[in-house]
Amino acid sequence: MKTKSSTEPKFSTKTSAQADPALMELFIDCIKDIYWAENHLVKALPKMQKAASSGQLSAAIGEHLEETKEHVVRLEKIFELLGENVQAKKCDAMEGLSKEGEGIIETTEEGTATRDVGIILASQKVEHYEIATYGGLAQLAKTLGLEDVAEILEQTLSEEKAADSKLSTIAESDINYTAAKEA
Ligand SMILES: [Fe+2]
Ligand SMILES: [Fe+2]
Repeated sequence: MKTKSSTEPKFSTKTSAQADPALMELFIDCIKDIYWAENHLVKALPKMQKAASSGQLSAAIGEHLEETKEHVVRLEKIFELLGENVQAKKCDAMEGLSKEGEGIIETTEEGTATRDVGIILASQKVEHYEIATYGGLAQLAKTLGLEDVAEILEQTLSEEKAADSKLSTIAESDINYTAAKEA
C-alpha cells in the first residue's frame, strides 16, 4: 500500500517537480546529515585550533572555521530552495571522526609538533569525508535537476578541497619534519 498519495508538489524548487520522490527523499536526508556534521564542526574546530601549536596550522583551522560557518548558511539556503524545514540528522561518521581528533589531542603532548601532525591527519579525514559528501550530493542534485542546489554544493566542495590541500602543504612544508626531529 502506498503511504504517500498526495498530489501536492512537495518541493518548491521549480526544477525538482519531475524528480523521483524516493531519490529526492534520500537526497534531503543526506542534506540533513551534512547539516548536522557542519554544525558539529563549528563546535569542534575551535578545540582543534586551540590545541595546535603551529601558527600556520592554527590560522588555517581558524580560516576554515569561518568557511564552515558559511557552509551551514549555504545548507540552510538549500533547505529553503527545496521548501523544506531546516533540520539536522545526526551524522555518526562525523561524530566518529571528531572523536578521533579529540583522542589524538588526549594522547599527544601539548605544544609538540607530533600533536600538530595528529591534528592535521584528523582534520584531513574530516575534509575527505566532506569532499566525498559534497561531491556525491552535487552530482545527485544535477541528476535531480536541481541546478541551483548543485551550484551551492559545488561552491562548498571547492572550499573543502582547498582546505585539504592547504593542510597537506602545511604538513609537507614544516610540521612533519619538525615532528620527526622531535622523536
Ligand atoms: Fe564544510
Ligand atoms: Fe571542511
